[in-house]
Amino acid sequence: MSKEITITRPDDWHLHLRDGAMLQGVLPETARHFARAIIMPNLVPPVVTGDQAAAYRDRILAALPKGMAFEPLMTLYLTEGTDPADVAAAAASGLVKAVKLYPAGATTNSHSGVRDLDKVMPVLEKMAEIGLPLCTHGEVTTPEVDIFDREAVFIDTVLAPLRRRLPELRVVMEHITTEEGVAYAAEGGPNLGATITTHHLIINRNHILVGGIKPHYYCLPVAKRERHRQALRRAATSGNPAYFLGTDSAPHVDALKEHACGCAGCFTATNTMALLAHVFEEENALDRLESFASLNGPTFYRLPVNSGQMRLVKHEQPQVFPAKIFTEAGPVTVFDPGFAVQWSVEA
Ligand code: NCD
Ligand code: ZN
Repeated sequence: MSKEITITRPDDWHLHLRDGAMLQGVLPETARHFARAIIMPNLVPPVVTGDQAAAYRDRILAALPKGMAFEPLMTLYLTEGTDPADVAAAAASGLVKAVKLYPAGATTNSHSGVRDLDKVMPVLEKMAEIGLPLCTHGEVTTPEVDIFDREAVFIDTVLAPLRRRLPELRVVMEHITTEEGVAYAAEGGPNLGATITTHHLIINRNHILVGGIKPHYYCLPVAKRERHRQALRRAATSGNPAYFLGTDSAPHVDALKEHACGCAGCFTATNTMALLAHVFEEENALDRLESFASLNGPTFYRLPVNSGQMRLVKHEQPQVFPAKIFTEAGPVTVFDPGFAVQWSVEA
């Protein structure tokens, strides 16, 4: 029996598009399915000022194939030198929809990130005043903290104190990966949201490490134990408006993934919506896919819900997705869930 659902056209609330040849190669993968995406600013050099965000937005729109509709929602990369007035102006013009906090050294291209939160308090106070969300990469970077504990320690030692100090600040916990993240987001009220990736609903840390190391499953925050994956599935399928889709699709060329010091990031833009339909069906929650992928994000970001629709169809036969996207920067491996997927997005 074939099955189908139609949902409001989704958005991706956490996406890496890169620049140049990589941008050109990966943008259609997102624009084909998603109306809008929050665009991560961790370019080299990072997107720090309003002017840089405007120029990046223009490069994204220039790379968009004719006939595709897509709205990039720009972000600024928070540094200890960020000017509150520049942030406020970029938000007031409608260009910038969030500011991204990377603790220095936490992930790909994060060395310009924040070492001392006190130094950015004037920016955060201005953001609280104007209602501009702070997107957080929620991991501490102190070498003493085990990589699997970095999210839980960030919540206790950075995020909770910051939110007690500045309760009006609107915060998105990006790509949560733990029970602790799920629980903290559940109790945060209307000023707190959390994005969940597709791959963290599918893999746990065994998938990375058992039977040979799988570099294409390595991302940050790193996938955790099975009980955390189960907590993420319950959260994503709960219908709770605190949780929404942010794929964190993060392309790196194969040569840099399959490497002695491999880059972090899973590239999921191509098959995310089919994989989510599979996951939500497994959880008997297909009726909640729309909240997670299309409704909760705009509500948090105070943006209108998309007017278009997306039809997802479950076929008798497993669907074939490309194994790689061939960009002018090099091939990029598409996330392989490791199971057959019968769902596809239909025009
Ligand atoms: C991201 C990247 O490659 O830019 N990598 C990742 O593993 N998610 C950075 C990030 O979001 O942490
Ligand atoms: Zn990311």
